[in-house]
Amino acid sequence: KSLPSGLEIGREIVVYDEVESTNSKANELLKQGYPSGTVVIADRQTKGKGRLGRTWISPPGKNLYMSIALKPTIPPKYATLLTLTSVVACTTALRRYTDIPVVIKWPNDMLIDDKKVGGILTELKIEGEKIKAAVVGIGINVNMTEEDMPEEIKEIASSLKIYRKEDLSRGLLAVEIIKEFDKWYQLLEKRQRKTIIDRWMQLSGTIGRQVKIIFTDREILATAEAIDEEGRLIVKLNDGTYEKISAGDVTLLRA
Ligand code: BTN
Repeated sequence: KSLPSGLEIGREIVVYDEVESTNSKANELLKQGYPSGTVVIADRQTKGKGRLGRTWISPPGKNLYMSIALKPTIPPKYATLLTLTSVVACTTALRRYTDIPVVIKWPNDMLIDDKKVGGILTELKIEGEKIKAAVVGIGINVNMTEEDMPEEIKEIASSLKIYRKEDLSRGLLAVEIIKEFDKWYQLLEKRQRKTIIDRWMQLSGTIGRQVKIIFTDREILATAEAIDEEGRLIVKLNDGTYEKISAGDVTLLRA
């Protein structure tokens, strides 16, 4: 049943001390009958999941681990846009709450000074021509310090605290994200794709940059030019030809 505007995301907010993964928990709650828009937050995760089968390091007391369970009505071919919508909402909320010029790296990383402070993992259940369920998982490094960072991510990861040199409230940040998510998700449901893509481009630190894209079987060097209306990254290869990328690991090369 559709709700009046502004009421979908965060109608139910469920908070845990510890879960394996807030994404798995959100999916369970949706199956148990919790409504679309249910938000799950945990203090720590024992099996935090990242994209491409990676682990998301999830120590207690420091960071934000949050998932939003949804039943979107968009067709599966626009599923990537759900992630882009989510990263637009999170980046906008982060900028508003911290005043830090956070930028987006395609498709869904949030960066400060080219280091990752947040990521999004969207998990979908598609049946036929419909998205039956979607979980958007948001991980933000809030109060992690350099000492807290495992050696293997020190070079590539950062946190809001490392930049701002002070602790920030995870709760207030979560509220900002929920509010902003509600707004952008409604635009997605109303098929306002161009508004979302334009905002993504404005917040992007990817467009115009030289990138290296690693696929399972090959690697390319190119310039990121734009994203199309399905959220694919359009790149120009050094031989002048164009490619549309829908999956792959993108590294920004030095400007
Ligand atoms: C990425 O690889 O960039 C995506 C990281 C997503 C991490 C978040 S933390 C909350 C939610 N639960 C998970 O297990 N993963 C996501």
